[in-house]
Amino acid sequence: MIRLGLIFGGRSGEHEISILSAASIAGALDRSKYEVIPIGIDKNGKWRKVTADMNGITSLDNPRLPKLIPQSEPISFDEVQRTIDFAFIILHGPYGEDGTIQGLFEMMDKPYAGPGVVSSAVSMDKIFTKDIWIRAGLPVCKHVFFTAFDYKTDGEAQIDLIEKSLPYPVFVKPANLGSSVGITKAANHGELVLAVEKALKYDRRIIVEEGIDGRELEVAVLGNEVPETGAIGEIMPENEFYDYEAKYSSSDTKLSIPAENVPADIEEKIYDIVKRAYRAVDGEGFSRVDTFYVEETGEVFLNEINTLPGFTNFSMFPSLWKAKGVEYSDLVERIIDLGFERYNAKNNR
Ligand SMILES: Nc1ncnc2c1ncn2[C@@H]1O[C@H](COP(=O)(O)OP(=O)(O)O)[C@@H](O)[C@H]1O
Ligand SMILES: [Mg+2]
Repeated sequence: MIRLGLIFGGRSGEHEISILSAASIAGALDRSKYEVIPIGIDKNGKWRKVTADMNGITSLDNPRLPKLIPQSEPISFDEVQRTIDFAFIILHGPYGEDGTIQGLFEMMDKPYAGPGVVSSAVSMDKIFTKDIWIRAGLPVCKHVFFTAFDYKTDGEAQIDLIEKSLPYPVFVKPANLGSSVGITKAANHGELVLAVEKALKYDRRIIVEEGIDGRELEVAVLGNEVPETGAIGEIMPENEFYDYEAKYSSSDTKLSIPAENVPADIEEKIYDIVKRAYRAVDGEGFSRVDTFYVEETGEVFLNEINTLPGFTNFSMFPSLWKAKGVEYSDLVERIIDLGFERYNAKNNR
């Protein structure tokens, strides 16, 4: 029996989605092979051993969801280390996707799902990710970046630099967040200044990008050294862009799986770029890589990589594999195997 710690919840804005992802994974695990030990991290960052039944928690308005973690008994890191053989980390956003918890499991000498410390940290940071992709010769949109300190020292110079480098509209983003939090589309000088000030509330590093008028295509990736790709999906938000509201409350965002009317040569180009992007950030386990496709020019730009994408039964990532004939439970199994594979390779060096 493999004692599988399922690590979910967490301090980020994606706490609730993480619980849904974990409940789906718990329901899919082969109980003859895995003893599942659900460990919930509450919104204050406290770790708790969840003993309540997670079965059937499939929507955000399930009344059991908010109580699941806070009503559970605390668990110490020491006990976690003693009682699990593998950590299936399914936390989204800061303190989950950003290398911090990966570092903790490295310290505990435990194998875990998803990429390692550096890969997670780089992939979470929209500035570093783009630097690495540019170095790999991969297409990213035009952008500039600066810190809160730069802005405080000479804000006008930063605004000037943005306006000289990029045409409107631009997207202003905190470098290290998710769920579109703190992101604004700015169409003129006034909006830009407000957008920068908003983004600075969430992070000390800011990236400003040229707005791409294209289709949003997302690709699921699985593997360590030799990544494989699932189907290509498309998101079609009704809002101005795929903002927080469109992601979690609006029912108007259409998902198309697989994406329709993507020419074969573009599909091939996207798969190639996505695999190289995954390798460039030293991706391991799984990820969802998001791109823009501009139909008029045939251009494809990489937007971002999500190393712990949403994993509910209805999320984009598993749906993209399902479209290629890979069932949810097989996907979970593959991700665990890839985590062990990486761990064993490291120990055998
Ligand atoms: N450069 C851009 N051009 C056009 N749309 C963008 C651009 N950057 C972001 N967006 C829009 O904003 C959304 C959120 O941005 P993204 O970089 O994916 O941040 P997050 O990590 O919060 O998902 C995207 O899904 C897309 O709709
Ligand atoms: Mg995104």
